[in-house]
Amino acid sequence: MFTTLRNKEIIIAVTGGIAAYKTCELVRELTRRGASVHVVMTKNAMQFVSPLTFQTLSGHPVIHEMFELFTGSKIGHIALSDIADQMVIVPATANIIGKIANGIADDFLTTMVMATTVPVLFVPSMNAKMWESKMVQMNIQKLKDAGYELMEPGVGDLACGTKGKGRLPPIHEILEKMEDIFTEKDLSNERIIVTAGPTVEFIDPVRCITNRSSGKMGYAIAKIAKRRGAEVILISGMTYLPPPRSDIHMVQVRTAQEMREAIMRHFEDATVIIKAAAVADFRCKNESTVKIKKSEEETYVLELQKNPDILAELGKIKGHRILVGFAAETENLVENAFEKLKKKNLDMIVANNVAKEGIGFGSDRNEVTIIEAHGRVRHVPEMTKEEIANIILDFVKRIMKKRKTTEDDWL
Ligand code: CTP
Repeated sequence: MFTTLRNKEIIIAVTGGIAAYKTCELVRELTRRGASVHVVMTKNAMQFVSPLTFQTLSGHPVIHEMFELFTGSKIGHIALSDIADQMVIVPATANIIGKIANGIADDFLTTMVMATTVPVLFVPSMNAKMWESKMVQMNIQKLKDAGYELMEPGVGDLACGTKGKGRLPPIHEILEKMEDIFTEKDLSNERIIVTAGPTVEFIDPVRCITNRSSGKMGYAIAKIAKRRGAEVILISGMTYLPPPRSDIHMVQVRTAQEMREAIMRHFEDATVIIKAAAVADFRCKNESTVKIKKSEEETYVLELQKNPDILAELGKIKGHRILVGFAAETENLVENAFEKLKKKNLDMIVANNVAKEGIGFGSDRNEVTIIEAHGRVRHVPEMTKEEIANIILDFVKRIMKKRKTTEDDWL
């Protein structure tokens, strides 16, 4: 798994809201990602979940008493503040938000937050009317001004039987936000277009031609690019995947022509374009508007017409933009991919051996070869698609840096 949470000391502070039961799952996921988790609970939190549950899930004693001693002679809250890499208050009730926003430190949790210099993330969850109340909103603003990290609650059914904004955000979003906090924003000046997934070409209203691309590689690139601070536009063919992050601009397309139009709409302001999509080379010459009936004949001839090669077209007009292509190959991987790079005027190409079993199509893992325009070849052994995405973005960053140094040399 690609994660910044491995070997980190994470403090999960639980306050008294019904969503406390969901925090159990968060603790479990964090330990799965290799983090060392310490749970701190308020008295009210213990009305909802027992400390034993968190102790079992985290493998560490749960702290809830103000004067509990942590390691030997050190006072608990100071010791925890010292070892922590990040604190997360989840769920954060209106009460804890109000207390911390106004400098109240009257129990273990609040004194610990006050004594820390590490990032503190608030994940609020409460009744929608409470969330919208002037007092809570004023306190939220105070927390933002003081430099605390905050997530917005989700919208939907609430435990109190009403609907509205107040739900705890999904656990995967909390984890992503935590990863975000640990990630250096080295792509924050970039506007990156990523294409992903298969295109679909229609034969008639019920039939189509497509390919086996799952979209996972492109979605992983979009997610990691966003985590590294880029503005991301994900132009996606039809996949079964949920959007990688809610703050990515998603554009859904079906056909190669729709994908081309979507790219051209966003092309002007883009600084990097990564074409991970598996674009159909051909579409039906005469798409039928009605369902084609089978005849007595044993064969049926479908006439195909070439689709635009979007990447080749971008290569002609790219200007200063960095253009990254993918190559799906079954033989002569490096030679064929390098040929595509030259033909389409790319800065870099990521070659996949799609004939290899167990990786690539549909899998969460892949093995690729990255080739740069000047001919440098680097083999990336099998790893998760998110790890590969991060390496691809490191290459993009390096190309940018090199360009900048060359430009500076000319000045
Ligand atoms: N591509 C594209 N438009 C097309 C076909 C491909 O933009 N009509 C892009 C893909 O998104 C990918 C790269 O070109 O980044 C290479 O795609 P690939 O299918 O490997 O190669 P092709 O150029 O289509 O050549 P061939 O199918 O003959 O291997």
